[in-house]
Amino acid sequence: MKSAIYPGSFDPLTYGHINIINRGRKIFDRVVVAVAGNMSKNTTFTIDERADIIRELFRGVKGVEVVSFRGLLVNYMSRRGIRTILRGLRTFSDFEYEFQMAMGNKKLAQEVETLFMITEGEYSYISSSIIKEIVALGGSARGMVPPLVEKQLRGKLRVERAAVRRGR
Ligand code: COA
Repeated sequence: MKSAIYPGSFDPLTYGHINIINRGRKIFDRVVVAVAGNMSKNTTFTIDERADIIRELFRGVKGVEVVSFRGLLVNYMSRRGIRTILRGLRTFSDFEYEFQMAMGNKKLAQEVETLFMITEGEYSYISSSIIKEIVALGGSARGMVPPLVEKQLRGKLRVERAAVRRGR
């Protein structure tokens, strides 16, 4: 079975990510969507919340598995016997970061290959942070994230705002 891992923070998952997962499914028998835990990023959703949202959205979809992992990606891949990383490239500015990661992973595990897919034009401007900002400021993220993600995000931001008010 040909498998690829699609790692990311997915805080939250966007239609841009979904685009890569669905195109990946046409090439690989299985795309393992891997939600990363211990990152320098301060995430809005916990690792379990991020994975649960993706699981819900891909429930019953053949060829997609959703997992979460902590520690080095290559170590997780080695435990699972997966050798291919799938990543999306949005704009030229993504390249440098992606290049460093691909080379870093290669240095850590020679057998690992990273494959890049160009994110389709209409999604190339989307990022999780932009979506969080839009929703936090009362805008609509329709067409950028699935309705479930927008709903969860609104709920999360409401709780955060309430906590800030209580702390005042
Ligand atoms: N469409 C829309 N947005 C996309 C996208 C796409 N196809 N691909 C990426 N993005 C956005 C994300 O929304 C995210 O936006 P944000 O910065 O506003 O949150 C940004 O691009 C980058 O996110 P992502 O692709 O999820 O990468 P990341 O930097 O959050 O995650 C890991 C990188 C998790 C893959 C990497 O840190 C990792 O492997 N960590 C494990 C530890 C490890 O092994 N480290 C050594 C690596 S050499």
